[in-house]
Amino acid sequence: MKIMIHGGFFSESNQSEETKRLKQDALGEIVQKSHHFLLSNTALDTVVYAVQLLEDHPLFNAGIGSQLQKDGKIRMSAALMDGRSKKFSGVLNIESIQNPIHVARALQMVDDRVLGGEGAINFAKNIGKETVNVEIPERRKEYENRVKSAGIGTVGCVVLDNKGHLAAATSTGGKGFELPGRISDSGTVAGNYANDFCAISCTGVGEDIVSGALAAKIVTRVTDGLSIKDSFAKSFQELKEFDGFAGAIGVDALGNMYYQESHPKIVYASFDGVNLSVFS
Ligand code: GLY
Repeated sequence: MKIMIHGGFFSESNQSEETKRLKQDALGEIVQKSHHFLLSNTALDTVVYAVQLLEDHPLFNAGIGSQLQKDGKIRMSAALMDGRSKKFSGVLNIESIQNPIHVARALQMVDDRVLGGEGAINFAKNIGKETVNVEIPERRKEYENRVKSAGIGTVGCVVLDNKGHLAAATSTGGKGFELPGRISDSGTVAGNYANDFCAISCTGVGEDIVSGALAAKIVTRVTDGLSIKDSFAKSFQELKEFDGFAGAIGVDALGNMYYQESHPKIVYASFDGVNLSVFS
């Protein structure tokens, strides 16, 4: 059993040391809770559980605490991939729903598994999700001060469960100040991908992650026989060609966990039941 979570990038310029410490503490707590959950649940349900806890935490840019877009509205994206069934599901530009990852989870059960905008909101309401205000004063203040903080705080989780199944989940409030209608990588296979060999969750600038097809590319390389380390290295080398800004966490079917970032500093945590590692 392996679990790894991330809380996106930590920005030295926009965030204090105190915020960094609080984020590290939150990641440490959430990864331990999620590991406990994993003891009696599947990889798929565990990645949803972990990402829901991250969405509920206002320090991270997903769910409550999401960043505002250019028109002052919050539109969130989230995706889920079950490595066993190979089903990807996700929502893009969903509004006023506290846990977009729950909607992605419900979409695993239907034919039309990726929904955007109004369709995603209506689907969420139809499955009983209440509409809530996910805006917090800090993000409004950043918006008013035009603090641009690309990719900061996107959240994700990758898991290998005790049956050997893998899953990945990712959720984001986007990069902040984006044009309404912009598509985040977090709701695509570039930002979130898993199969029987590997599970990957990305953070960073969505356009760069999509241009690098990052999550799907790393997973494909592991599937084709490259080690997880070499798959990360080759895929991140390719990002360098256009100075792509990205970070990713991953776990393979052998239980090897790995992370890489193109620029400092992604914040992430892992826990194996004994050893807690929190990094940034
Ligand atoms: N990775 C988050 C975004 O760019 O939307």
